[in-house]
Amino acid sequence: MAPPGLLSLCVLILVVMPHRAYGSSRGPFGRKNGAAATADSGICATSVTIYGYKCEEHEVTTQDGFILNMQRIPEGRVGGKSTGGNKKQPVLIQHGVLVDGMTWLLNSPEQNLPMILADNGFDVWIPNTRGTRFSRKHVSLDPTQPDFWNWSWDELVTYDLPAVFDFVFNQTGQKIHYIGHSLGTLIGLASFSEGHQADKLKSAVLLSPIAYLSHMTTALGMVAAKAFAGEITTLFGIAEFNPKGNEATVFLNSLCNYPGVDCYDLLNVLTGNNCCLNSSTVNLFLKNEPQSTATKNMVHLAQTVRDGVLAKYNYGRPDYNVMHYGEARPPLYNISNIPHDLPIFMSYGGQDALSDVQDVQLLLDHLKFHDVGKLAVQYIKNYAHADFIMGISAKDIVYNQVVQFFKNHQ
Ligand SMILES: *[C@@H]1O[C@H](CO)[C@@H](O)[C@H](O)[C@H]1NC(C)=O
Ligand SMILES: *[C@@H]1O[C@H](CO)[C@@H](O)[C@H](O)[C@H]1NC(C)=O
Ligand SMILES: *[C@@H]1O[C@H](CO)[C@@H](O)[C@H](O)[C@H]1NC(C)=O
Ligand SMILES: *[C@@H]1O[C@H](CO)[C@@H](O)[C@H](O)[C@H]1NC(C)=O
Repeated sequence: MAPPGLLSLCVLILVVMPHRAYGSSRGPFGRKNGAAATADSGICATSVTIYGYKCEEHEVTTQDGFILNMQRIPEGRVGGKSTGGNKKQPVLIQHGVLVDGMTWLLNSPEQNLPMILADNGFDVWIPNTRGTRFSRKHVSLDPTQPDFWNWSWDELVTYDLPAVFDFVFNQTGQKIHYIGHSLGTLIGLASFSEGHQADKLKSAVLLSPIAYLSHMTTALGMVAAKAFAGEITTLFGIAEFNPKGNEATVFLNSLCNYPGVDCYDLLNVLTGNNCCLNSSTVNLFLKNEPQSTATKNMVHLAQTVRDGVLAKYNYGRPDYNVMHYGEARPPLYNISNIPHDLPIFMSYGGQDALSDVQDVQLLLDHLKFHDVGKLAVQYIKNYAHADFIMGISAKDIVYNQVVQFFKNHQ
């Protein structure tokens, strides 16, 4: 789930605080970092096959050598008759920052988006971003090496997303419907604007869209973003940002002592006032998330908050930027370059502290040349960030619309 900078933080803090009492840097399960997705411990086994769905574990290697874990739910429980001809249409469903693919699977099968899609005849693929618990492998690096963490969301745009698109396209021979939540929307938008998936993409669904972040108003979010954009690089260097680790705990606790920052009820403070979460689901969420990401990724997200533009990672000095980009300032992603005839369905919430309504308007403004008939927008007044992935009413309010949208764009 998570979103740039903030949602992430929310999640972080949420989990970090309870642990403080035990002085432990491990999650509630004491899970070791670097666990492999084995047949009985992976996401298929823990969250999918137990409900009677088929599920396959896959590995996808990116051009820069990361080996990503991905789940596939090829069909529904009832056999799921396919939509549009014999071949089922693939859907790629991309999670946000500091969480992994399991966040889509925490409610009951009747309420989870991947299973709803499978039961409606779609072939569902759930990638896990580099650095998360089952995607901590690389052809030559390992997570103890700083180079393993030398990336930001630019690399998710340039490497992770193209790799999973190519893989699914190759396996299915079909164009792909994309769904992103939070950071999953940002990397989708940026990637499509650079033309990476032009020939393999059928349509895009953006839940809690994140692109522009300058209106994020939560006090904790702003303090955190400032800290990430500034001091944290020197604090952490090029390294793993493990939200369950000691440094992160100390850092986050310190933010909660800022004047005006109220860390009571962190989930709502950070993501907005979620209307519709099931407390059992939230507990399950807290047992499984948050996941690691690169410190550089957090810094890049914080820059996105601070600078109000959608740009590549800023190396912080004109001469460094020239070295990397040939320009003193990092190049911008131009959302207006997304093909104007790409069918897009966007759903955003009035209570979302991360995907603020004003920032969504800014995003829509960049899409103003989009073909009118190809852009559908849904506004849900009482929804906040986490409602879109875990809300008990999300099936009725959002997911049924998503299914219908895909059926209309076969
Ligand atoms: C990180 O990668 C960039 C290229 O993307 C390189 O210029 C830089 O030296 C690397 N930093 C470290 C610490 O390895
Ligand atoms: C597609 O898959 C086949 C069989 O697994 C493989 O030989 C081929 O190289 C793949 N092509 C691409 C573009 O990945
Ligand atoms: C909340 O989750 C519990 C445990 O999975 C489940 O039994 C209950 O039906 C859920 N409630 C709602 C309203 O979905
Ligand atoms: C973005 O692309 C559009 C055309 O797709 C162009 O009109 C506009 O000038 C570009 N903006 C920037 C800042 O390059």
